[in-house]
Amino acid sequence: CGIVGYIGQRDAYPIILKGLKRLEYRGYDSAGIALYDGEDIQLCKTKGKVADLEKKAEKEISRKGNLGIGHTRWATHGVPNDVNSHPHYSNSGDLVLIHNGIIENYDSLKQELLNRGYTFKSETDTEVLVNLIEDVQKKENVKLGKAVQIALNQVVGAYAIALFDKKKPDEIVVAKLGSPLAIGVGDDEFFVASDASPFIEFTNNAIYLEDEEMAVIRLGREVRVRKIKDDQLVAPYIQELQLNLEQIEKGGYDHFMLKEIHEQPSVIKDTYRGRLHADDGILRLGGLENHIEKFLNADRIIIVACGTSWHAGLVAEYFIEDFTRIPVEVEYASEFRYRNPIISEKDVIIAISQSGETADTLAAIKLAKQKGAFVYGVCNVVGSSISRETDSGTYTHAGPEIGVASTKAFTTQITVLTMIALRLAKAKGTISHSDFVRYLHELELIPTHVEKALQTEDEIKEIASVFMNVRNFLYLGRGYNFPVALEGALKLKEISYIHAEGYPAAEMKHGPIALIDESMPVVVIAIKSDHYEKVVSNIQEIKARKGKILAVVSEGDKTVREMADYVMVVPHTPEALSPLVTTIPLQLLSYHIAVMLGRNVDQPRNLAKSVTVE
Ligand code: G6P
Repeated sequence: CGIVGYIGQRDAYPIILKGLKRLEYRGYDSAGIALYDGEDIQLCKTKGKVADLEKKAEKEISRKGNLGIGHTRWATHGVPNDVNSHPHYSNSGDLVLIHNGIIENYDSLKQELLNRGYTFKSETDTEVLVNLIEDVQKKENVKLGKAVQIALNQVVGAYAIALFDKKKPDEIVVAKLGSPLAIGVGDDEFFVASDASPFIEFTNNAIYLEDEEMAVIRLGREVRVRKIKDDQLVAPYIQELQLNLEQIEKGGYDHFMLKEIHEQPSVIKDTYRGRLHADDGILRLGGLENHIEKFLNADRIIIVACGTSWHAGLVAEYFIEDFTRIPVEVEYASEFRYRNPIISEKDVIIAISQSGETADTLAAIKLAKQKGAFVYGVCNVVGSSISRETDSGTYTHAGPEIGVASTKAFTTQITVLTMIALRLAKAKGTISHSDFVRYLHELELIPTHVEKALQTEDEIKEIASVFMNVRNFLYLGRGYNFPVALEGALKLKEISYIHAEGYPAAEMKHGPIALIDESMPVVVIAIKSDHYEKVVSNIQEIKARKGKILAVVSEGDKTVREMADYVMVVPHTPEALSPLVTTIPLQLLSYHIAVMLGRNVDQPRNLAKSVTVE
């Protein structure tokens, strides 16, 4: 989600509205704005885009006032609709709050507030928070800043918030944990935003809050920053921004794709946040719990998807069969829908789609539903057509993916599918409790492993510079990493326009080996696994034909390192989770080759982010 706020001498409405448009890349399920017009709060919110908000605001509110907050939402709790949109009022109508993030313990907090007589209009965790703050304010008889601090100390989760109290319209209170928050410092005016893009045209001076910090922003005085936990005052560091608008939207990265590659540690965490608690041995997927029997009684699971999502499906085939012993088939949605497929009520379909709008996948779902199958969705975009059409599902929570070549959507899809497999295996009893818990712990380590894999970027850049001018690439992998080879090759094709083929390493001898000579780079995923020795043999076969070996290896590997021309090192994980880390160097390799060739990385020729034609 994106948040914006303003307090000063100018009209707040145009600043906030324009700021929201700039933040729309952070989500666009719904939008809202609250202004203080000198007497009361003017609030307007709607499902849809900021442009929809603009239309509605013109009709419904005066749009006057020098204090206001606005929000563009990417739904987590509650479907995107008018009521669930932000800002949210407290029960008295004095406080309004916008929030980006997730309050994990909102259920128990809500229960307490209900017991104390509070009522709720929406299903959101945000409305719980604003009332919790009001409750503290009243109970303890403290100022707004203090009330926010006390309330946040009861909250578990992640947030960036901004709020004001109409009884004290000279201040905005903000706080941050896990989600970004910047304060723009002008001349007798202040701005608040998820990144600096909404205020860069007004001021270059910004304070970036650290996690667990809050600030009281009052007109006519310096911003007061404190630690939420121990109340310690922090001297605010005012940074002079050098970036331009476009750079800011990309978080300082050259391209959205690179930003999204680097977001993977945090979005993978977002994907399992609130769903998985390894220490307690808990794994719970809201959309799955009521349908577990359907899966366990299924004759088979059929996965339908296109492009990168289809590759995530192939990875899922390995672990769903491995862990649950339920037969799985993976189908291109476009083939499935037109080949008169055999589907019955005893089949469960999993449809995977980042956008949730892909026409072929949508049509495959409709067909399966007609035949009586149960359809489960794994989508990123909340409220998308596929998420509405499916019987139930799990969102990936990767945040908006803007680069056309999919990166973080892929790894978060795999994260969701792994959780589904583990949850089903636990229910079916095909995994021991100790293995189950071990995998949960291993999943929680993935963000750190991905972070480490990202740190090899400089070495990968060097490899990219050596191979940027070749015309063909071969990608090989076995087992869980065969689909990763396919995905690696697809990434390179998509953004660099270099021809690349992915193959199961052992199949190479049945064809592609004929292509190998000294000019042919072969990317081999050769991590420590059950197939390690076999992959080593495949590497020998390539070397014997003078092919160039670019190997993805596990930390501490010696054998392959000696044989390969170049290595890309990744941390060790159980094989079933390894695609989440082996994918990373391959994303970086394609990215850097494409950049070196001067390609339009975020918008490669002929491709579209969401393909709504068949
Ligand atoms: C397009 C995109 C790919 C994506 C595929 C499936 O081809 O360029 O990146 O993998 O569609 O999209 P979906 O939104 O259904 O995952």
